[in-house]
Amino acid sequence: MSIMIVMQFFVFALLCLPCWANAVHPKLTGTIPPEVSNLVNLGSLDVSDNRITGLVPASLAQCGSLQYLIMEGNLLQGTIPASMSQMKGLLVLDVSRNNLSGDIPVFLGDMQGLATLNISFNNFEGEVPKRGLFLNASAALIEGNYGLCGGIPQFNLHPCSNHTSKKWSHKIVVFISVGSAFLCIILVLFALFARRKLRSEFTKTRRVPSLHSGQHMRVTYAELVRATSGFASENLLGTGSFGSVYKGTMMDGDQEVIVAVKVLNLQQRGASQSFVAECETLRCIRHRNLVKILTVCSSIDSRGLDFKALVFEFMPNGDLDQWQHSRLLEDGSHGVLSLTQRIDIAIDVASALEYLHHNKPVPIVHCDLKPSNILLDNDMVAHVGDFGLARFLHQDDTSLPEISSGWATRRGTIGYAAPEYGQGNEVSVYGDTYSYGILLLELFTGKRPTDGDFLQDLNLHSYVEIALRDQASNLANLCLLSSLEEGTTMRAAFITSVLHIGILCSKELPIDRMQIGDATRELLAIRDKYRTHLLSEGGSI
Ligand SMILES: *[C@@H]1O[C@H](CO)[C@@H](O)[C@H](O)[C@H]1NC(C)=O
Ligand SMILES: *[C@@H]1O[C@H](CO)[C@@H](O)[C@H](O)[C@H]1NC(C)=O
Ligand SMILES: *[C@@H]1O[C@H](CO)[C@@H](O)[C@H](O)[C@H]1NC(C)=O
Ligand SMILES: *[C@@H]1O[C@H](CO)[C@@H](O)[C@H](O)[C@H]1NC(C)=O
Repeated sequence: MSIMIVMQFFVFALLCLPCWANAVHPKLTGTIPPEVSNLVNLGSLDVSDNRITGLVPASLAQCGSLQYLIMEGNLLQGTIPASMSQMKGLLVLDVSRNNLSGDIPVFLGDMQGLATLNISFNNFEGEVPKRGLFLNASAALIEGNYGLCGGIPQFNLHPCSNHTSKKWSHKIVVFISVGSAFLCIILVLFALFARRKLRSEFTKTRRVPSLHSGQHMRVTYAELVRATSGFASENLLGTGSFGSVYKGTMMDGDQEVIVAVKVLNLQQRGASQSFVAECETLRCIRHRNLVKILTVCSSIDSRGLDFKALVFEFMPNGDLDQWQHSRLLEDGSHGVLSLTQRIDIAIDVASALEYLHHNKPVPIVHCDLKPSNILLDNDMVAHVGDFGLARFLHQDDTSLPEISSGWATRRGTIGYAAPEYGQGNEVSVYGDTYSYGILLLELFTGKRPTDGDFLQDLNLHSYVEIALRDQASNLANLCLLSSLEEGTTMRAAFITSVLHIGILCSKELPIDRMQIGDATRELLAIRDKYRTHLLSEGGSI
């Protein structure tokens, strides 16, 4: 019976395996085909002493009836497939005198039926399992595998727990030494870098101490006196709500830096709150459209009185108010902002507000947005400044000292402050949006909200609203249109859409006002459209 099955396999092998190795002693060559799994009724498979190469196919495990699997004396490679653990009927497994390698599979020890396992003369290595079949040295034959260790004493193998742990500890030692060498190199590089950085930072902060890098690094009173030539009147740039701003020159390394020094008038009630507000606000914000604070000074002046000052980046092009009004009068064409400059400024300011209103964890409300607080740098990029009234939203005003000082109750400037502030309402981001809307209307009409033309009922908002409603006749009256060369229809359409946004931002009721983020996006779209138009006309921007 079993001979019949063996013969059957030979027929199968003839068809599937490539050829006979030589004519004299015919031997099977090639690999065992995976289709061997089709022989489900195979009880015994003996292919010993052939030249079969390749792996022991995992599909062999599907020959569920297999009891004797004899493959000794071939050229099989790889390991014993894990699927063989399913061969419940297997009694004898002989893979001796092959080229199998790897660890001895532990499952062989757990196979209940297996009575004889011959894996001798292969290249197995590692620990011999100490369970099941492997506890009987006459059932498990493992001789001739020179990489094996451990197992029951009868195998006469050397113990291997130390061998492997040594191997491991060796690996660990190598790993640790390589790792620490690497770490050392990184640390040395880092130390070198940090030292250089520290040195340059030190020389820098000695001259213009930075509020951001050196926590409370401050400039001295004497240094500010030197920088501004003793707060000379020719260096006075302007007078703000709580003090005066001077132009000064300080050293940054070996480079001269022009700065703006805002000296708080501490006699003015609320000035020190304003100092704190501005310090606190500017310390945690950074945006290309906000003025950059360089340092602060809080000390005693030459007369022994309290002295507080803030040092900012100097903005060579002054503030927007000068550009819109006084410069326009002074020297005609030069001082006039072009339409594209105006929209760029409008977008800059809106981006700054959007940034402040989305500050984390709490929004910041500027509370005093107006043209004289918009500063222009060398490239006419707008920077929002003067955070003397700014506050973090949800900050409890009543917890502030000197509630009566005027600071906490001040809500911006007449004309720009939102109507609800007049009724003593809480400050909100909508208040800033209102001021922004007014600023936008002023920027594109050239009319101040505080102009004498505006009486009790008429204000800049309603004035523009009426003009927009009756476009054709009234738009021409808008100061800006007449002051610019011929008002083409495109220009009129452009100005109209910007003014619409100004109107939406300066609505009477806070909830009706446009979101500042939406305003930014719409202005960007309007600018793009205008630019494309100018380009298509071949005009310069
Ligand atoms: C195990 O295999 C070796 C080599 O093929 C052979 O010499 C030995 O007799 C076999 N032992 C048993 C118990 O089958
Ligand atoms: C045995 O297998 C190894 C690789 O595992 C191979 O390098 C070697 O040539 C094989 N020996 C024989 C006789 O096939
Ligand atoms: C060890 O294996 C041999 C051969 O399979 C068997 O005759 C013998 O009974 C086994 N001894 C034990 C203790 O199981
Ligand atoms: C491993 O080697 C140490 C000595 O190096 C010995 O004390 C220990 O018993 C060994 N462990 C095993 C499991 O052989």
